[in-house]
Amino acid sequence: MNEIKVMTVFGTRPEAIKMAPLALELAKRPGFDALCCVTAQHREMLDSVLDIFSLEPDYDLDIMEPRQTLSTITSKCLTGMDRVLEAAKPDLVLVHGDTSTTFAGALAAFYHKIPVGHVEAGLRTYDKWSPYPEEMDRKMVGAIADLHFCPTPSNRENLIREHITEGIYLTGNTVIDALSTTVIKDFHFTEKALDVLSRSDRKLILVTCHRRENYGQPMTAIMTALRRIADAFPETELVYPVHLSPVVQETAHRYLDGHPRIHLIAPLDVREMHNLMARCCLVMTDSGGLQEEAPALGKPVLVLRRETERPEAVAAGTVRLAGVEEETIFQMAAQLLSDQSEYDKMAHAANPYGDGHACRRIADAIAWHFGLRETPPEEFRP
Ligand code: UD1
Ligand code: UDP
Repeated sequence: MNEIKVMTVFGTRPEAIKMAPLALELAKRPGFDALCCVTAQHREMLDSVLDIFSLEPDYDLDIMEPRQTLSTITSKCLTGMDRVLEAAKPDLVLVHGDTSTTFAGALAAFYHKIPVGHVEAGLRTYDKWSPYPEEMDRKMVGAIADLHFCPTPSNRENLIREHITEGIYLTGNTVIDALSTTVIKDFHFTEKALDVLSRSDRKLILVTCHRRENYGQPMTAIMTALRRIADAFPETELVYPVHLSPVVQETAHRYLDGHPRIHLIAPLDVREMHNLMARCCLVMTDSGGLQEEAPALGKPVLVLRRETERPEAVAAGTVRLAGVEEETIFQMAAQLLSDQSEYDKMAHAANPYGDGHACRRIADAIAWHFGLRETPPEEFRP
């Protein structure tokens, strides 16, 4: 039988971190012809991940513009993918998660009548405005996809509730595969100041914040709360690698510049980020990926959002929803920083999102689907 031509398509930092281990797994498997297409919805933040994983894309649409809109991202991805799919003619297109690249990649494949596999399928808030536009992106991709790779049992239940019953595989999240390759005991940070800080006995709070639905008033409230936390707890150091979005850059610098213990730094490469997370005492974030990684490293997370599509770590007790109101965020952080028993309740390792073998299961499922394998993949058991 001919090799199965599988094309991974991704464009932003989190998709790259979660798809790189899968692209590498497919590339080493007999029976597969693995192709990789990046849209470069993110440029620098994507390239940094490609670099760390030594991944060289076969196609690069290079679409990023400063302050790009959802429509320009989607239309540029769609027309770019047209040309790529026409030339490469893959047997399967794999997209990840819920970005504009994900949606446009799946739609382009559908227009070419190419089957679609959705990695990180079945996450839902059931609020179409939050996260925006991600909740609709993933629902629309769920409607298009033929194969659905669900990280957790509750993700699978969400799909079944939507009457998707075929092609669902429970795999765990590939982010845990990535994490298992990056964290090293005696890691050294390139930046001297960060290296010193990471080895000190100061209480490091790792912060990220970038979501579109937090732009404006919610982000202002979050930044104000962060400054109050730094003021009230002199033993803390806030390290905030700021997303390159101009909206986020402007807001973060406007509210947090000039504080001696708030460190606004450039985005970290994924290895530095994971190792910093492994050494911090608390994570405050509106990111999806950090909500999955920090629990695996035993780090408490305060989520700077009104909802989460990742309830598993909330149930495990390592993640709490802090919302986007200044006072609540401040009080929740203050409690963890001043009450050791409250902190200890959250600071334990939990792995509801994966065991580091998601990529193997996804590759096995694809092989099974195309008749290259006689048994279905084993299921992830949290
Ligand atoms: C996108 C995703 C979001 C994901 C996030 C991860 C959509 C609609 N949103 O949001 O789901 O959580 O990525 O970070 O797909 N920029 C650079 N260099 C980079 C990256 C971004 O300069 O390497 C700047 C550009 O000005 C760009 C802006 O950031 O226009 C926003 O990027 P965009 O991909 O549109 O939105 P994100 O907020 O990053
Ligand atoms: N990350 C990184 N460097 C940073 C900030 C985040 O490598 O400076 C990683 C982080 O560890 C996680 C992913 O990027 O794996 C999350 O990406 P982001 O927060 O941009 O997107 P989201 O997960 O919210 O979609």
